[in-house]
Amino acid sequence: GVGRKEVNVLVVGLNNSGKTTVVNSFKSEEDKMTDIVPTVGFNIEKFQNQNLAFTAFDMSGHGRYRDLWEHYYKECHGIIFVIDSSDRLRLVVVKEELDLLLQHPNICQKSIPILFFANKMDCKDALSSVKIAAALGLDKIMDKPWHISASNALTGEGLQEGVEWLTQQIR
Ligand code: GTP
Ligand code: MG
Repeated sequence: GVGRKEVNVLVVGLNNSGKTTVVNSFKSEEDKMTDIVPTVGFNIEKFQNQNLAFTAFDMSGHGRYRDLWEHYYKECHGIIFVIDSSDRLRLVVVKEELDLLLQHPNICQKSIPILFFANKMDCKDALSSVKIAAALGLDKIMDKPWHISASNALTGEGLQEGVEWLTQQIR
């Protein structure tokens, strides 16, 4: 509509972290998917928040598709990085993927905001967002605004706070 600014956001993170579930919860009731299956390649989804019309590139987090992420670095205005807070074993893999992203020539020069969701906060083994931030070394990110929200994408808890932050950063 009139006055809406179009922005692209890239949604990344390991497979099974909850990316598609997060994006689905931002969509209007009539657009929501009822069945969420592991993403093959990527999906393009649209949603709105305040005056922003978001186009989300919801990437697959499966190892065989992670090479696709970098093709969208250039055109994105923000990144949503989703982490399964209960998947302690793969936190080192999350850090490897994050470091690769931050070092990429199309990202390291840009001051784009990164929103982290410490998702699956409802799971018994979930680490707090503070612990996730420490494990990933987020305090070392100096040249980009970043924010971490604990979330439960099944109930929506924590998601709005995160997307409000991202919207403030981009608008
Ligand atoms: P890929 O597309 O394979 O990269 O995975 P994805 O990151 O898109 O994950 P997806 O949204 O498909 O969710 C994976 C599984 O986690 C599904 O069974 C979801 O219902 C579940 N899930 C997502 N978010 C949460 C959460 O906050 N808590 C719990 N308990 N389960 C969640
Ligand atoms: Mg998915």
